[in-house]
Amino acid sequence: MTTFYVTTPIYYANSLPHLGHLYTMIVADTIARQKRQQGIETFFLTGTDEHGINIERAAQRNNRTPKEQADYVVSYFKKMTAAFGLDTEHGGYNIFMRTTEPFHYAGVSEFWRRVAKAKTPKGRDALYKGHYEGWFCAACAAYKTEDEYAKPANPDEPPTCLVHETKLDRVSEESYFFRLSDYGEALLNLYESRPEFVLPDVRRNEVRSFVQSGLQDLSVSRLRTSVSWGVPVPDDPTHTMYVWFDALTNYITAIGFGNEQQQRAVGFGKFWPALHLVGKDILRFHAVYWPAFLMAAEVEQPRAIVAHGMWLDPNGRKMSKTIGNTIELDVLNKHFSTDAIRYFCLRDMVFGQDGRFGYENLIDRTNSDLASGLGNLSSRTLTMIQRYCDGRIPQRNISDEGLLLAKRAGVDTDEAAVSDFVAHARDEFIRHFDKFAFSRALEEAWGIVARVDKMISDAKPWDLAKDASQRQTLNAVLYRAAESLRWLSVLLYPVMPNAAGNAYAQLGLSDNPAKIDPGDLKWGELSEGTETGEIKPLFPRIDKAKTMEEIENQESGVRSQGPGAAETRPSGRVQSVTDDRSITAQGSGQHATEADAVPLTAGETPALPVKKEALPGQNETGEGLIEITDFSKIDLRVGEVRSAERIPKADKLLLMTVDIGEEKPRQILAGIAQYYEPEQLVGRKIVVVANLKPRKLRGYESQGMLLAASVGEEGKPVIATFGEDVPNGARLK
Ligand code: MSP
Repeated sequence: MTTFYVTTPIYYANSLPHLGHLYTMIVADTIARQKRQQGIETFFLTGTDEHGINIERAAQRNNRTPKEQADYVVSYFKKMTAAFGLDTEHGGYNIFMRTTEPFHYAGVSEFWRRVAKAKTPKGRDALYKGHYEGWFCAACAAYKTEDEYAKPANPDEPPTCLVHETKLDRVSEESYFFRLSDYGEALLNLYESRPEFVLPDVRRNEVRSFVQSGLQDLSVSRLRTSVSWGVPVPDDPTHTMYVWFDALTNYITAIGFGNEQQQRAVGFGKFWPALHLVGKDILRFHAVYWPAFLMAAEVEQPRAIVAHGMWLDPNGRKMSKTIGNTIELDVLNKHFSTDAIRYFCLRDMVFGQDGRFGYENLIDRTNSDLASGLGNLSSRTLTMIQRYCDGRIPQRNISDEGLLLAKRAGVDTDEAAVSDFVAHARDEFIRHFDKFAFSRALEEAWGIVARVDKMISDAKPWDLAKDASQRQTLNAVLYRAAESLRWLSVLLYPVMPNAAGNAYAQLGLSDNPAKIDPGDLKWGELSEGTETGEIKPLFPRIDKAKTMEEIENQESGVRSQGPGAAETRPSGRVQSVTDDRSITAQGSGQHATEADAVPLTAGETPALPVKKEALPGQNETGEGLIEITDFSKIDLRVGEVRSAERIPKADKLLLMTVDIGEEKPRQILAGIAQYYEPEQLVGRKIVVVANLKPRKLRGYESQGMLLAASVGEEGKPVIATFGEDVPNGARLK
């Protein structure tokens, strides 16, 4: 790979961005920086989606023209992307794309013409004129089918969008249609032949089911008399292109498709295909409509479509302007460093899953992981180098004579004890990062922080410094710490460019971690004698009480000014019992008892509890007990939860993917949603019954069952887990 192209969605220019929007930009920026570190020429696109009825209406409300509205939002976006270091000047995006650019009009018109000339895989015209009759949500810019809206109590009123809770528009007019219904098979073949085309797996399954359930043709234009703010349909200016047709095409017009200007400046052939990062709420547009349009226009498919989860408020509702529960960028920017926000977003949200945002969590993580963790390691190491080594990187090696002394001081004489650990963590970091598992990658990096901290605490350099004979030991310990920090700075640069750059410079290094491939790091390349730089804290501690008070004051100010913003609604999660088929340890309706769950430790034969009284399931004569051969029929395996999420309209069920050491993780449903948050489970080791017949629940196949104790009268499930590290797939005997 010599070039790479990553995109965020382009954001509606009807309202100002919030944390949910910032998040995708942070993820894309992090990926772009890591590719650039690897020497790959990278193009990173973000921007705004500026057409359509929603922007027209926002403009009207604000007494602006649609273009003025878009300009206003764009200027705020640019201010914020600069403040968060995401713009070109700070090494971030390469283009801030706007669909009102004349070159985009040229490109998207060319794309339309190609589609208009195309035949579907079934040999019919890909585009045709018809009549559209149905409901449309302006905020989603999407046509809504019956299961996507709530019917009104009063039949004279329009239905409401389930996403935005706003009223739908009735559309009944002539329209161009894209013959999507002819593309089902081709799309399914695409997902089949390229398993990594839609990620994560759970989303690919969702998209596949959607296509399998049958596709309907898609209305791709509105009459100019109803929607005038948009790109005119080529050769038929009485129609305006459907805003998603227009918007999706930005990904190719930005780099030169159908226009000379960007072709010269960037180069379509050079960068396409792209990796599209999107929120899971707009997956269908990217993973179904867009590939079908591209097939019709005979343009190569994207590299991949990778969907992330939603930021929720502390009550579990999706953060959105319409609801008024957003985290404002101004507030974030005022109280937190960009790096802390970037770290938090990538560390706290398991990529692909939903995550709840709370300022308190952000402050806690900043103080523990950054100020006390990485920041403290950096400043204590450099302070000791300053104090004990005249501010120069000390000598690395311990001579043969010094080995015994080092041993006596409890210091590993072989530096590989540290360097191998660091190198392994680096490899794991990269492996997880490449799979978008940012949170796990960061755990690996913080494993280094903990390892080096421990080395320092064990070696007690402050004592070594009092003993002249321990000079070499002291030097070696501080060298190892400093070299680990150099590796950490390079590794963490894509996630926290400023802090990593500072940490690197404080080590006295003058090259740029932005240009060092972490895969090329070699232990020992930190030169002895290098003069270390001025020590400055990487992450100042945040005074929690004071900051929370300031935020609350600032937010209430913002809320009381913003329209509808004062509403903080109670949790929308209604815990109604819609599915009482619990499938934890109790798939058959029988809950495992507490006693059942206790002896489950890997690799041991659990001792049957020795009791004089009857055991559970046994009568006085011992009937009901099973033979060991009966037990061995059950294949119990150690599994690791890779993802977990709620299922709409099934309050008790969680949909999980669990790695039990097979080629692909299993999909497992468990009736534990009322007791466990999905985020709590990801990464947990659990016990899976692996040879249970698959069964379907709520349309999802469950390929196994997890074990849990059933506690108390309500039968609260407590998941069986391990106190020690065990490999995925290990058998329980
Ligand atoms: N304009 C379209 C995208 C067109 S791309 C060709 C659009 N815009 S949007 O402004 O509504 O949303 C842009 C992105 O922000 C989406 O990926 C959406 O998932 C994301 N987010 C909006 N709210 C979010 C959260 N609360 N959490 C995480 N991301 C969220 O859709």
